[in-house]
Amino acid sequence: MNLFLLMRVVHILLAAIWFGAAVAMMFFVIPAIKDAKQAGGAVMAGVMSRKYPAIMQSIAGTTILTGFYLYWRFTGGFDPVLSASMGGRVFGTGAVSGILALIIGATLVAGSMKKAAAAMAKAGSMPDGPEKAALVASVAPLQARAEMFGRIVIVLMVIAIVTMSIGHYV
Ligand code: HEM
Repeated sequence: MNLFLLMRVVHILLAAIWFGAAVAMMFFVIPAIKDAKQAGGAVMAGVMSRKYPAIMQSIAGTTILTGFYLYWRFTGGFDPVLSASMGGRVFGTGAVSGILALIIGATLVAGSMKKAAAAMAKAGSMPDGPEKAALVASVAPLQARAEMFGRIVIVLMVIAIVTMSIGHYV
């Protein structure tokens, strides 16, 4: 297999894993954790201890690095004329969306999820009282923030997938 085909396979395979994981997390795992209330804290901690954010960020980062290689090849080494062609602009739009998805996912989504997991874990080991109640109450806004930005990440990834699918044929 030549380098180009290898890069295409890695790019598309990792993009598929990233997108599938984001959809499963946003629409199934986080809602289930919320429904489970306090028991959800243990599930959240289990997901975090398996290094979900760091693994997803590595997968997303490698998708983007391989994307840069593919874009470099597609535009004959970032040639301005080819980059400004319709195909170049369509792939470029997808590239910007993909990069924004990683930045928002790694900062706003992962940050809120980590804080929520830490608060849930701490509350689990505390005796009942106002301090614990305040900590438990702090989880819902963090989860809501992770969900809102998570939805934005999914929309950005859909834009990347749609533009990349048509980029060769516009
Ligand atoms: C969310 C992130 C991304 C996703 C989901 C994604 C998805 C895809 C998919 C599914 C294809 C195959 C399209 C086809 O050939 O029919 C593709 C190709 C491609 N991607 Fe991405 N991509 C992402 C990020 C990027 C980034 C950041 C860049 C550039 C910096 C990029 C550049 C390219 C290029 C140039 C191709 C075409 C390769 C060729 O010449 O055949 N991608 N991408």
